[in-house]
Amino acid sequence: HAAWKGDAAARPPVYMAGVPYVSNLMRFIRDPLEIVTAAHRQCGELFTVPIAHKRFTFCVGPEAHEIFCRGSDEELDQTEVYSFSVPVFGQEVVYDAPLETRYQQFRWLSQALRAEKLKSYVPLMVMEAEQAFGQLPQSGSIDLFDKLSELIVMTASRCLLGREVREQMFAKVSFLIHELDQGMQPISVMAPYLPIASHRKRDAAHTEFKRIFKQVIDGRRKSANANTPPEPDMLQSFLDAVYRDGTRLSDDEICGLLIAAIFAGQHTSSITSTWLGMRLLRSPAMLEKVLDEQRRIIAEYGAEINFETLSKMDVLHNCMKETLRMYPPLIFLIRLVLKELHFKDFVVPVGDYLFLSPSVSGKDQTVFSNPEAWDPDRFAPPRSEDKKAAFAYVGFGGGRHGCMGEQFAYLQVKTLWSVMLRNFDMRAVGALPTIQHDALVVGPSPPCTVQFERRQLVGQFHSV
Ligand code: HEM
Repeated sequence: HAAWKGDAAARPPVYMAGVPYVSNLMRFIRDPLEIVTAAHRQCGELFTVPIAHKRFTFCVGPEAHEIFCRGSDEELDQTEVYSFSVPVFGQEVVYDAPLETRYQQFRWLSQALRAEKLKSYVPLMVMEAEQAFGQLPQSGSIDLFDKLSELIVMTASRCLLGREVREQMFAKVSFLIHELDQGMQPISVMAPYLPIASHRKRDAAHTEFKRIFKQVIDGRRKSANANTPPEPDMLQSFLDAVYRDGTRLSDDEICGLLIAAIFAGQHTSSITSTWLGMRLLRSPAMLEKVLDEQRRIIAEYGAEINFETLSKMDVLHNCMKETLRMYPPLIFLIRLVLKELHFKDFVVPVGDYLFLSPSVSGKDQTVFSNPEAWDPDRFAPPRSEDKKAAFAYVGFGGGRHGCMGEQFAYLQVKTLWSVMLRNFDMRAVGALPTIQHDALVVGPSPPCTVQFERRQLVGQFHSV
């Protein structure tokens, strides 16, 4: 209480509705976006919502985002707020590693997601998608979220974990990923070490994951000596990495980083690709535009889906971008303030939790016209609404800790949708799903039913 009362003049405005503390807490638990949206409307671009005994300070809009996105790790700490991930990723990696070590680990993550690496991932993504959709019957219906989640584990396993896992132990590893995932629920954020069944399963899965990977890593080291060509995956990038002091990543560190990469991209991409379908299949004019783009690309560059052709799919790209603006799976990005922050007339004090909400910022009317409409063309010239200012668009966060997998995610989602649209006529069934807010990564409420019918082949091309 005293912490946020003192020196109130310089502090951001405080939003307090109803019974002090209690009402804010109840509303935040019931629907966190509702209270933050109301506070934004009332207070402007920087404001504090006291929740129980904590001060949650929110920045909304490109200018205010700067303090979040440009803040250094000495000013804005991730370690405490993301500490719930430690039992899943493991010790001494990512948020459990000292900053100097963490920087080097993040550098390897980012190197494994660079354009020339991505080029070698695309054929693997295409192969996975073609195999999986090839097995569907002539016509039928699927739950889009289930199908796409399955495919995203497959493609991510192939590109990140490697060929051995995908080909020889996929069922086992995807089960372990599922068990690890069950240990990352809202309750795990409050009490990551609470002795409950899902946490015990999470810990057992973590141990088993490491055991399996030790064998895979040993196999790789042996084949490296046998002069076989290096594998084009993230595992190999980590095997080749060397710390500044000349040491290499331990097997446990390699496992931890791979788990972190899988988790960063699993629900986020499954949810985004599902929402994309839920909106696109209900928007006949935009669907026709996307199909036209596919036809044009096939006519100009041939039917192969590769890094270059995916990069030319601007309409599909903007559909994904717009989907992420309206339905960001990460609704809050959080830091603990370690050094006082200054923004315009305000000072954000040490001890505040600084929030950036991609959901609230995605609806900011100062940046996005008619923000409730799903309108991918807002990102196309001449409107280019995301280019109005730095940090106007924050679906992937931004700045110092912006998403490293952004390009990977676009390639993966665009590959899946290109393969689907070229091969099937699809129709979304029922009403548009609502947003399911009670999960850590926020997605559509089931069902997400889609009916499909295989397209006829015309010459060597599908009749997109
Ligand atoms: C960070 C979103 C896919 C790897 C982030 C952040 C967001 C985000 C909002 C910032 C978190 C923060 O500031 O606290 C998304 C979305 C995705 C996606 C919406 C899919 C549609 C991926 C994929 C990977 C990945 C596929 C890797 C294969 C990372 C990593 C970070 C990160 C390593 C941490 C960067 C850092 O802290 O420096 N992501 N992500 N993401 N993402 Fe993604």
